[in-house]
Amino acid sequence: MYAATTIRSRIGSLEPKTAIVLGSGLGTLAERVSDPVRIPYGDLDGFPGSGVSGHAAELVAGVMGACPVIMLSGRAHYYEHGDASAMRAPLETLRALGVEKLFLTNAAGSLHPEMPAGSVMQITDHINFSGSNPLFGETSDRRFVGLTSAYDADMRAAMDAAAQQCGHFLHRGVYMWFSGPSFETPAEIRMARTIGADAVGMSTVPEVILARFLGMRVAAASVITNLAAGMSGDELSHQETKDMAPIGGARLADILFKTVQTLV
Ligand code: HPA
Repeated sequence: MYAATTIRSRIGSLEPKTAIVLGSGLGTLAERVSDPVRIPYGDLDGFPGSGVSGHAAELVAGVMGACPVIMLSGRAHYYEHGDASAMRAPLETLRALGVEKLFLTNAAGSLHPEMPAGSVMQITDHINFSGSNPLFGETSDRRFVGLTSAYDADMRAAMDAAAQQCGHFLHRGVYMWFSGPSFETPAEIRMARTIGADAVGMSTVPEVILARFLGMRVAAASVITNLAAGMSGDELSHQETKDMAPIGGARLADILFKTVQTLV
């Protein structure tokens, strides 16, 4: 059965227009959904298997505050199989269910000492440094997706206002997508800074491209888990990402909770 059909049969008349992809540290946001319907990705055709420790693999649908939402708790990463389009089926499913606005979250390394671990950064633009694209192989002319205003101005403004109401400082910056799974080198980080990046990470950009391709509006934010390679002298580790993500994650969860109320 198509994933959208499976989901529709379990969520009944719920009509979510908003979806959130939960990256590292954001898992607790799913706990703020009242009367949640939880569907393991394993029940949904085309959805990814559970790939990365620290990430659940389930869809959670329900109402958050006053806003009907779908949350994707866990995502496929390019580094798992070298497939940048791994999130295409889940995002097509959201679109088929009527989702119009997509919030994407991730953990990232910071290029600025004044944006340390625990910070939250709204993504204003991105640099695709992976050499890949989720639309490789797409044949329709729709593949030439414009990304000039990929990050939606109204959704960004709503996030800014929500952050202010929560009393959380929301940094702004450019997210640079590296393929991973190895972390960057100090030389790559110096390059990233030189060419205009503010944070680096291993996800989200393919989802932004796919979501724009599918006609969804997009906003995204990073929780900073570390200063990037070479900035602190410490070796980076996935354990550090998992340990630090809940700190910024709690702030970003507050911000997103408020944001979606204003966009109902
Ligand atoms: N680099 C890439 N991805 C990351 C980092 C980093 O420093 N921290 C968390 N995710």
